[in-house]
Amino acid sequence: MAATFAQPHAHGRLFSTSPLPKPTKNLRSPFTVRMSLQETGPSIAVVGVTGAVGQEFLSVLSDRDFPYRSIKMLASKRSAGKQMTFEDRNYTVEELTADSFDGVDIALFSAGGSISKQFGPAAVEKGAIVVDNSSAFRMVDGVPLVIPEVNPQAMRGIKVGMGKGALIANPNCSTIICLMAATPLHQRAKVLRMVVSTYQAASGAGAAAMEELELQTRKVLEGKPPTCNIFSQQYAFNLFSHNAPVLPNGYNEEEMKLVKETRKIWSDLDVKVTATCIRVPVMRAHAESVNLQFEKPLDEDTAREILKNAPGVVVIDDRASNHFPTPLEVSNKDDVAVGRIRQDLSQEGNHGLDIFVCGDQIRKGAALNAVQIAEMLL
Ligand SMILES: NC(=O)c1ccc[n+]([C@@H]2O[C@H](COP(=O)([O-])OP(=O)(O)OC[C@H]3O[C@@H](n4cnc5c(N)ncnc54)[C@H](OP(=O)(O)O)[C@@H]3O)[C@@H](O)[C@H]2O)c1
Repeated sequence: MAATFAQPHAHGRLFSTSPLPKPTKNLRSPFTVRMSLQETGPSIAVVGVTGAVGQEFLSVLSDRDFPYRSIKMLASKRSAGKQMTFEDRNYTVEELTADSFDGVDIALFSAGGSISKQFGPAAVEKGAIVVDNSSAFRMVDGVPLVIPEVNPQAMRGIKVGMGKGALIANPNCSTIICLMAATPLHQRAKVLRMVVSTYQAASGAGAAAMEELELQTRKVLEGKPPTCNIFSQQYAFNLFSHNAPVLPNGYNEEEMKLVKETRKIWSDLDVKVTATCIRVPVMRAHAESVNLQFEKPLDEDTAREILKNAPGVVVIDDRASNHFPTPLEVSNKDDVAVGRIRQDLSQEGNHGLDIFVCGDQIRKGAALNAVQIAEMLL
């Protein structure tokens, strides 16, 4: 890992002791880890640096050789004073306060919606450009909601050095993974309706949820009753409807994010989206079944070619050996994998397709997407 803690976290979370393999290969090409501390780069703050996404921010910054002249490691009071190493330098985790953003150019936030609401505007006030991973500002008018491969134009004009701060929102992880694959097809044939079913990993609920899945699995295998702290029901050897609050319309908040964020990102208020979001006992990386209905005809061979050429997408679609995308194959990878590309038999002509998508939601669904946004600020 690019960042390691000198001592175990107070909550026993999974940092340098994470069971996950070292991140970082793009499915298409290898990369090199380099030092990116430079006198001329922006000053960065990572808010929520001790969390699952925060740790991945550091990995991605390092992997992509992101230039920076200084970096502040911010978390809650609980973590203040902890020592950590990043790119061979030692840092002390600082408590996040309203004064944390003096002189900060780019603040990468991943400490939850309430923290973003409390401190995001304060950071902007101090002149920082905030890239926020929470849902706090995603649907706010005037706040760009950006997937760099999909709608980079939404943040046009926002740059470090423009003399004022700004807020940019990172979409929900399931939305990012879905739209990475659906957008190139939408651009060709215009999606009229999209039906999404998700199979979401523990890591989407943070470092503590990953630890819970691991501990529950051990307990069940030992014949002991599992402890449920993060989720209200047994997670190991089970699956359940996403833990997000259920709304009066019967959808949960995760599902409605897919509905609303797709419309905003595509600037298409008419696109019909419905979703069912499920937590599955996978450690890392989400999977999604996506059914698409198009305005114009689109056959499966053309769709496969479009996806093969789409940035950040890799096609794994081997019918002969029944090999299609899996969460394990995309874990710690940058690309979103697409397979099961087939004509939807229930729709007339070539107006429907089914696809199956897998993506590492801590990486492309959160940290990588945010760092790509930060790169466009330079
Ligand atoms: N996990 C994902 O795949 C994913 C994907 C997209 C978006 N997100 C979003 O990213 C955010 C973080 O998710 P996560 O999975 O990384 O959660 P996590 O592993 O639970 O980490 C939470 C982080 O927030 C910090 N924090 C909590 N209370 C704080 C406070 N009062 N002041 C400052 N820092 C505080 C924690 O610091 P301490 O260690 O000091 O408590 C920790 O660094 C959430 O908004 C989540 O919705 C997550």
